[in-house]
Order: sequence, then C-alpha cells, then structure tokens
Amino acid sequence: MDLQLTGKRAVVTGASRGIGLATVEALVAEGVRVVAGSRTVSAELAATGAIPVTTDLRTADGVNALVERAIVEFGDIDLLVNNVGGADHVEHLAFADTTDDDWFDLLNLNLMAAVRTTRASVPSLLRTKGVVVTVSSDGALTPRQGALATPLPYAVSKAALNACMKALSVELGLEGIRVTTVSPGSTRTSLWEGEVGETLARAAGVPHDALLKVLPEQAGMLTGRWIEPKEIAAAIAFVASPLSGSTIGANFEIDAGARRSL
Ligand SMILES: NC(=O)c1ccc[n+]([C@@H]2O[C@H](COP(=O)([O-])OP(=O)(O)OC[C@H]3O[C@@H](n4cnc5c(N)ncnc54)[C@H](OP(=O)(O)O)[C@@H]3O)[C@@H](O)[C@H]2O)c1
Repeated sequence: MDLQLTGKRAVVTGASRGIGLATVEALVAEGVRVVAGSRTVSAELAATGAIPVTTDLRTADGVNALVERAIVEFGDIDLLVNNVGGADHVEHLAFADTTDDDWFDLLNLNLMAAVRTTRASVPSLLRTKGVVVTVSSDGALTPRQGALATPLPYAVSKAALNACMKALSVELGLEGIRVTTVSPGSTRTSLWEGEVGETLARAAGVPHDALLKVLPEQAGMLTGRWIEPKEIAAAIAFVASPLSGSTIGANFEIDAGARRSL
C-alpha cells in the first residue's frame, strides 16, 4: 500500500533508539524527509539518512532548537511525531515515597516536551494543514494495575498527554491540523532493557532478565511476546498518512490485547 507520504517533511522526537528510531526508519522508507531529535545520535539513526539534531527535549530551548532546525532545513513541517518519553531515574514506586522531582521530571519529559514541540510547530502545521501523532502509553488507561505497575507519575503524565491531544484534536482540527495518539503496550526497547525495567524488577523482587521473560504473559498480552518497535512505527506511519484523513482525535492502543476493559 502506498501511504502517500513521499516528499512529506517530518520531525520525530526521541529518535536515537526504540520506537522513535523505528518510526524514523519507517518514515524514511516511505520517502519522508525527517529531522530527528535526541540527546545522542546512534549509529542506527545516522544510518537512516534523517537529519539528526542533538538536543535535550526536557528544555524549552532544546525543543525550539529542534523545530527551528526543521524549518531551516525544510521550510515547513507536514508531520510531527511526539515520541519522546519514558521514566528514567525513577526509583520510588510507592506513592508516599515519590518526590516532587519525580513528578516534575516525568511531567516535563512526557507531557511538556510534547506540549512545547506541538506549540512550536503549530505555525508551520497551520500552513501545511499538517498532522501530529503523539506516542502515549497503555499505562495512561490502566494506571497502577497488576504487579508490574509503571511509576505513577509516568502513568499520570501520559493520561494528561491523552487529554491534551484529545483537546488539541478539536482546537487544531478546526484549523485543518489532524491530531491523533498511538498508545503502545509493552514494547521491547531500551526503556525496559535499561533503568525502568531494572527499577520495576527490583520493586517486583525478581531478577531483571526474569522480568523481561515473564512480562508479556503477566501483562496479559495475547501474543505471549513483546511488541516490536516496528509494529508501533507502522501504526504511526499509517495514521500519519493521508489515507487516514478522517482519523482525528483517536487513540490507537497497540497492546496485544492486554487491556480487557472497554
Ligand atoms: N517501550 C514500551 O514498552 C513503551 C510502552 C508504552 C509507551 N511507550 C512510549 O514510547 C515512547 C518511546 O519509548 P521507547 O520505549 O522507544 O523508549 P527508549 O528506548 O528509552 O527511547 C527513548 C528515546 O528518547 C530519547 N530521549 C530520552 N530522553 C530525551 C531527552 N531528554 N531529550 C531528547 N531525547 C530524549 C532517547 O535518546 P537519547 O538517550 O539519545 O536522548 C531515545 O531515542 C515514549 O514516549 C514511551 O513513554 C513505550
């Protein structure tokens, strides 16, 4: 299927690995020109042919540098993928132990980075009648469920992100900008293989490698396996496509059937 994305100009945040990298790869394969932001440039990102921008997206200056670079390179932006997010550095899982820093750090990375990047991109997206795809999380819809609950500030910041994008889908939709959300379930990336996975394993009292082995089943994923980043990237490319022109304000859950409620 031709997604009719050839020649489009995109910004992808959190692009050096994981879902962001897979999204850059999928978009480039569709003929999209991409400016890709992250704090480091991995060999895999460099190999995509995207224009890498080294930037810290927790800061307003870092966000502005990314969007300004895209405007310099492309003139305008047709597609923004708000992918950056995560829950690094959170050691405290019990609510009573969480600190203000835990809350503000995760709100900054998971909510404010997307707020700032979208706001900075709106003038250009208005000119192109562009698309915003935001990566949220199944944790926003199932906060604190099961033994392997994600940190509460992470789930709450993603829930706020969902609310923000739903509201923007109307406010910006009236101006011709299409806003949608994609919510992954457990996807095998460095998020799980690194600090977040280690923290959750410690909290659950199991070795990290054991957690990685049992998580799909314990999370109720009907495939019995981790989601691959390219499966999320394919959904992002599809909702970004003009073929999805009537898809506005939707939240696509890709969780291998883990969430059983309506
Ligand atoms: N993996 C999952 O199971 C899962 C499930 C639900 C939702 N999600 C969401 O999916 C998105 C991608 O997650 P992932 O699993 O692919 O994560 P990941 O493997 O940890 O990758 C995160 C990416 O974001 C970049 N990044 C992190 N902090 C940054 C910062 N301050 N400034 C700029 N770039 C930054 C990282 O690059 P640098 O380190 O080079 O900066 C990396 O490229 C996130 O929003 C996450 O919440 C993931």
